[in-house]
Amino acid sequence: MAARHFLTLDDMTASELDSLVNHASKLRTEWREGKVRDSLKNRVLSMIFEKSSTRTRVSFEAGMAQLGGSAMFLSPRDTQLGRGEPIEDSAIVISSMVDAVMIRTFAHETVERFAQASRVPVINALTDDFHPCQLLADMQTYREHRGSIKGATVAWIGDGNNMCHSYMNAAAQFGFHLNVACPEGYEPDPALMDKHSSRVTLYREPAEAARNANVLVTDVWASMGQEEEQKAREQAFKRFQINRELMQLADKDVLFMHCLPAHRGEEISHDMMEHPGSVVWDEAENRLHAQKALLEFLILGTLD
Ligand code: CP
Ligand code: NVA
Repeated sequence: MAARHFLTLDDMTASELDSLVNHASKLRTEWREGKVRDSLKNRVLSMIFEKSSTRTRVSFEAGMAQLGGSAMFLSPRDTQLGRGEPIEDSAIVISSMVDAVMIRTFAHETVERFAQASRVPVINALTDDFHPCQLLADMQTYREHRGSIKGATVAWIGDGNNMCHSYMNAAAQFGFHLNVACPEGYEPDPALMDKHSSRVTLYREPAEAARNANVLVTDVWASMGQEEEQKAREQAFKRFQINRELMQLADKDVLFMHCLPAHRGEEISHDMMEHPGSVVWDEAENRLHAQKALLEFLILGTLD
């Protein structure tokens, strides 16, 4: 049987995602109680990072260790990937020795090509286009704080980037409405906008997108790979900040989310991380639990 991959949220059904998020919360509770779980004993995850990471690397590596397996960090600097060995050849070789592969890279096509040639599950740990693992953690976090997100309104304030794209997919899969507020020229992918037109509304004013929303969420103005655009983006995005004033326009129980790392004074005001509605630290910790659930699902084929 062909391996199941997780390149975008669309690789799972809504019901699988729902079970996965519930399982992640169960794993969180068990872990906090100190229960030992060795569901992935002797299993190995390869982690290919072509971009920097703190949360993703720590959560996947710790997650594998906590489930009785192990994880191996591979950087293009010291593997043949950085010296031009074709993606497909690398995929055949690596996937003949490990149980799953996680990749963080630039072009989304790279993970698609890798997955095509891989015998084992491939996980997208961020590309220029999508960041589905973060959405598992975000959906888990919302559910743990507020219950089902079905029918809720989420306001994305900022760049129409990889995180925004994954929020658009999540809107369809988890059944919420997404308001996107972004400056002209920084909209999400038009093909994705078309695909999700019934679930996504585009605004030019952050205040309009935020009104009565149940979640305000944002991300850095310049993503990895866009460092040279930082100054131009600071200009373009200066009205697109989540702050106390914007939170006041939203629902009284609004949550604030950010995948981190955050730039205080840019996409969020200096006090947002400590705002009573902020759940950013839970979101970060839930990367661990959500990905443990994902690894069990992909490697074992079940959630138990
Ligand atoms: N949110 C996230 O993916 O963080 P890292 O870049 O630190 O992995
Ligand atoms: N949009 C950001 C997310 C980092 C987790 C980036 O791609 O750099």
